Amino acid sequence: MPTVFITGASRGLGLEFARQYAQAGWRVIATCRNLGGSEGLPGLPGVETHALDVTDFEAMKALAVKFETCPIDLFLCNAGIFGGDQEFGEVEPQDFARTLNTNLIAPTMLAQAFWPQVAASKGRVMAFLSSRMGSMEDNKSGGYYIYRASKAGLNAIVKSLSVDLEAKGILAVALHPGWVKTDMGGEVALLQPSDSIAGLRQVLAGLSQKHSGKFLNYDGLEIPW
Ligand SMILES: NC(=O)c1ccc[n+]([C@@H]2O[C@H](COP(=O)([O-])OP(=O)(O)OC[C@H]3O[C@@H](n4cnc5c(N)ncnc54)[C@H](OP(=O)(O)O)[C@@H]3O)[C@@H](O)[C@H]2O)c1
Repeated sequence: MPTVFITGASRGLGLEFARQYAQAGWRVIATCRNLGGSEGLPGLPGVETHALDVTDFEAMKALAVKFETCPIDLFLCNAGIFGGDQEFGEVEPQDFARTLNTNLIAPTMLAQAFWPQVAASKGRVMAFLSSRMGSMEDNKSGGYYIYRASKAGLNAIVKSLSVDLEAKGILAVALHPGWVKTDMGGEVALLQPSDSIAGLRQVLAGLSQKHSGKFLNYDGLEIPW
């Protein structure tokens, strides 16, 4: 039975990843920063839960030690925030720093902490929930300074990981889930979480070395950096 490790599984896409992988018979290790604050995660059949605030780097290291002997086939860095006011003239440094800490620095620390468990598995995939809003080429409308910068930075990290972890047999990919109806995506978003995650699972199932270091949409199409 393959194992998936998910960050930010209290709600939204992380919760849907946990639900679908559990239904598919995987061992699911779902983490969230406040176990008591999640409505959907506790009691989800077949899902093992652990507390992890991805910006608590000491707790992250301790959790990695706890899973030292557990091969992780698929490591999903999903936890993310949108940040505060995003328009030019309104950006606040504290919001910017908090968002970079969660969306950019935390995934880097997670990769450093957990790559041995991924290398020890059969699947050997590290996947990072990025966003099309981090694409330079796709940015025709400006604005969204904080969120765009955090995801563009994450894309740069994924590219380096794909090179540095190749010798360990690990594939690293950046994923765009589409615009999805979650707390972050909002009610007017185009996709249901179930459809987005079904698409991403198919993309993840079809990965090979040629995909490592790529930015992939939930339908499998490559997105320009
Ligand atoms: N929805 C979209 O349309 C869309 C589009 C492109 C990319 N994405 C990306 O997809 C990922 C998931 O988004 P979503 O739509 O599911 O967002 P969401 O509904 O806002 O959920 C975000 C999740 O991240 C968790 N989280 C935030 N900060 C955390 C921290 N410090 N430690 C641990 N968990 C933390 C939240 O936990 P709490 O419940 O504790 O707050 C929650 O579980 C994000 O990386 C997002 O940027 C989403």
